[in-house]
Amino acid sequence: MSGPNTSYDPVEVAALDPQAVDDAVSAALAAASSAGTLDELRAARSAHQGDRSALALANREIGALPPSAKAEAGKRVGQARGRVAAAFAARHAELEAERDERILTEEAVDLTVVPPRRVGARHPISLVTERVEDIFVGLGWEIAEGPELESEWLNFDALNLGPDHPARQMQDTFFVEPADSSGLVLRTHTSPVQVRTMLDREPPIYVLCPGKVFRTDELDATHTPVFHQFEGLVVDEGITMAHLKGILDVFVARLFGAGTATRLRPSYFPFTEPSAEIDCQCWICSGTDASCRTCRGTGWIEVGGSGMVNRRVLTASGIDPDRYTGFAFGLGIERSLMLRHGVADMHDIVEGDVRFSTQFGMEI
Ligand code: PHE
Repeated sequence: MSGPNTSYDPVEVAALDPQAVDDAVSAALAAASSAGTLDELRAARSAHQGDRSALALANREIGALPPSAKAEAGKRVGQARGRVAAAFAARHAELEAERDERILTEEAVDLTVVPPRRVGARHPISLVTERVEDIFVGLGWEIAEGPELESEWLNFDALNLGPDHPARQMQDTFFVEPADSSGLVLRTHTSPVQVRTMLDREPPIYVLCPGKVFRTDELDATHTPVFHQFEGLVVDEGITMAHLKGILDVFVARLFGAGTATRLRPSYFPFTEPSAEIDCQCWICSGTDASCRTCRGTGWIEVGGSGMVNRRVLTASGIDPDRYTGFAFGLGIERSLMLRHGVADMHDIVEGDVRFSTQFGMEI
């Protein structure tokens, strides 16, 4: 073809035939309404609205019409394309709403459904510690805490444990590098909290100091390098060993049951004078069973150490030993737990297996 198309007859342009345009519109509307998904709609849209659709073809042919015919054909095709575009847009909105609705129900997460799972349990060490704290708080005492990484001076010297004391030897104490000059150890007992408390406040002092302590023992059936103690400290005017005995009796009766008594046995600790081991009456046989496995037939079980705070410790802590006296005691929690509940192996206490912990419930 060459030269202007002067003899062009619009009637012969098939795509612009009004019937053809109406048919194209009906086909497009039918395709839009029968599309059941957004993907189907997208395919129908490209067939009926795309560059190769009948209406796009008709639109292109307008350009070839003589000016006199352009306006009418343009209006017809324009309206047709407008109806088709509106139909596709409306169907698109419908299908999108349906999809959103479906996703909301299909993918809904029911936050009230609790997946089946094993219920955990608090560790018996925590339970005993809290129980002990409750008993002393109930007596009007305060809880005091100190750091686990402690100065050598507070862990030893201030407690009258001189530089040559065997407890300072490497086999007992975790020193912090460099061992000879860092001045720090992992505390070997809770007694440094006594000194911290006395340096911190004025008598009367009634405190309980629970916490982790560290010694260089291998983990075996009866030892663990990390264990728990609680320390009691009273400093006031006129405090005697009778007060210590009275408090210990009240404490074990509340922890182990009414009627459980304590016994003090002479002993030695550098930080107390006089000093005593604390024995607790056997809570299994009360001394009535010569073959009792818990107390080995003795009727008594050693649970800790105690004594009247040494004058030198009071002085080192800034307290006048002529005006005030005090007592202190320290008990091990793991040991009490093993004896009380017949736990045969320390590994069970240390490993934190929930099957072990659940046996203790929420209360001891
Ligand atoms: N600190 C001692 C220990 O760990 C126990 C103790 C505390 C003894 C208080 C007497 C007074 O063995």
